[in-house]
Amino acid sequence: MKLFAGSASLNLGASLAKILNMPLSEVEHHVFPDGEQRIQLREDVVDQDVVIIQSTGIPTDANYIELFLLLDAATRNGAKSVTAVIPYLGYSRQDHIFRTGEARSLEVMINAIEVNGATSMIGFDFHSIKTPELFTLPVHHLSALPLFASVIKQHGWIDNNTVLISPDMGGLRRLSKLSEMLGGMSMSSVEKNRDLTTGDIDASLVHGEIKKRCLLVDDMISSGRTTAQAVEMVKKHGAEEVYVFATHPVFSEDAARILQASAAERVFVTDTIAISEEKQFEKLTILSVSDAIAGVLSV
Ligand code: R5P
Repeated sequence: MKLFAGSASLNLGASLAKILNMPLSEVEHHVFPDGEQRIQLREDVVDQDVVIIQSTGIPTDANYIELFLLLDAATRNGAKSVTAVIPYLGYSRQDHIFRTGEARSLEVMINAIEVNGATSMIGFDFHSIKTPELFTLPVHHLSALPLFASVIKQHGWIDNNTVLISPDMGGLRRLSKLSEMLGGMSMSSVEKNRDLTTGDIDASLVHGEIKKRCLLVDDMISSGRTTAQAVEMVKKHGAEEVYVFATHPVFSEDAARILQASAAERVFVTDTIAISEEKQFEKLTILSVSDAIAGVLSV
């Protein structure tokens, strides 16, 4: 097996190589002044099972192009199989048509992943449970929920004063899986509405009971506004402590400042997306998904 990491997942690739006790093979990645990219795999891949890890957070489009070039390089140079590890699958929120005339953007990305030679893929906490069905290749859908469950257990946050909260109604399925892992912890939800044109959100209603300690769980944090509004909302309804758990730290725009300034006590995310130093903040804790990926690759 040969393991290559794209520029968006160099640290995760290195941790993975360490766990799997194998080298991380070298990639030459050049960006021309006009933004075009050139990829060269610096190892022979003929008849090899190749693993390519590349996340597609910000800059999403450039990271996707790099992934397509890595897949093409592996296929074109004779790899026997090519597993695409895409810890965060960009465009996941555009998985269906919301308004007439729109593109089904996620499907466009998935087609390109398949056309360029991936023979299987590994991903985390897709935005929709239907995402794996959009692929024709085999998909390993991993989750950060077991990591969140173990943090919650370690802190002893399983008691009658604690409730799991979804920042929107769509996240309740995710929440019930986590609740099950924690022996049936109670769940509530904030009702969030988003303006499809401006992206503005309004979180104004709470469904269910709010307890002293709230654990807010989401698949991703992008601008941070959903999180900040939900935290504010549950605090208004009597929560004293709010801990946030989100798999993908997309952290667009001013997210780091918004999250640090929010009323949350702590924000737990994973390393499905690398967070640059300037986007890290005091309340942030980063958990690693490398063991979960290694678990699939070493089978
Ligand atoms: C939405 O359905 C997702 O689960 C997240 O809640 C959302 O994408 C977060 O976006 P933002 O951080 O920009 O509010």
